[in-house]
Amino acid sequence: MRRTGPLRGMVRETTVAPSDLILPLFVVPGSGVRRPVTSMPGVDQTSVDELLRDAGDAHQLGLGAIILFGIPPYKDLEGTSGYRDDGVVQKAVRALKREVPDLPVITDVCLCEYTSHGHCGVLRGDTVDNDATLPLLARMAVSHAAAGADLVAPSDMMDGRVAAIRAGLDAEGFDETPIIAYSAKYASAFYGPFRDAAESTPSFGDRRSYQMDPANGREGIREAKLDIAEGADIVMVKPAHAYLDVIASVKGETGYPVYAYHVSGEYAMLVAAAERGWIDLSRAMNEVLLGIRRAGADMILTYYAREFARAYRVEGTA
Ligand code: PBG
Repeated sequence: MRRTGPLRGMVRETTVAPSDLILPLFVVPGSGVRRPVTSMPGVDQTSVDELLRDAGDAHQLGLGAIILFGIPPYKDLEGTSGYRDDGVVQKAVRALKREVPDLPVITDVCLCEYTSHGHCGVLRGDTVDNDATLPLLARMAVSHAAAGADLVAPSDMMDGRVAAIRAGLDAEGFDETPIIAYSAKYASAFYGPFRDAAESTPSFGDRRSYQMDPANGREGIREAKLDIAEGADIVMVKPAHAYLDVIASVKGETGYPVYAYHVSGEYAMLVAAAERGWIDLSRAMNEVLLGIRRAGADMILTYYAREFARAYRVEGTA
């Protein structure tokens, strides 16, 4: 059954299609802005006008959705630029829903891009105040939904945030806006390049007091179940490549839609190795994406989504 391509196709268990992929995009204030992110070749920070082009491409290429991250004009202790009606993400979502209405738009809900200290919640002394952060996250989610976001995705890892966001959305009439919870989100070294892109490196300490210990797989299942009990519609495992076992067990134990985030560092190291001529980028990427799907992920967030879809048009499945 391995002798020819068509025969191999007849016993193929897993596929990756462009519609399985979600493209992360970074939006900045202004117009005509397109700034490459050095540590993530192929990824740019863009203003809304340029973002519309990228989103148009994503739609044309048949990608499943995009997820937006905002880099605001100012940052403060409480991340107030993150929940303004005229914030960068809110403006971008309105433009997207006007210009590319059929492309599902997910928004990342977290304070780290908007706080002056770069932590994912508000501080009490030197620690993140979990409960004081919850109403701010709910407010941010409501402002995204009001702008037209199709789904909201909290990535902050505060306890109880899914319930707080669900209640906040319902109270404002957004009872049909689904929540994708970053449930098993680990304190990972692989977020480095993203923090360059989102300008969200913590100014002191690290995120280990709220993101998960990479040693804990069973806890990932528990986190996913808690988020589901609080009202999550979809759960996420992040990073993806180093956590395939967690993807498999969360899928097996919950039966819920499971998304996996192939994060910035996981992307950057493949691109860097390919730049040195050490691996073939498209073959390596296809293999990794296939592996993430084989582990049980329904959709994958990946910076490689457009490149994958372009090749897919020409060559077919991975
Ligand atoms: C924000 C957030 C992060 C990522 C997605 N949302 C960074 C972090 O927690 O520091 C990482 C994505 C990536 O590395 O590609 N909370």
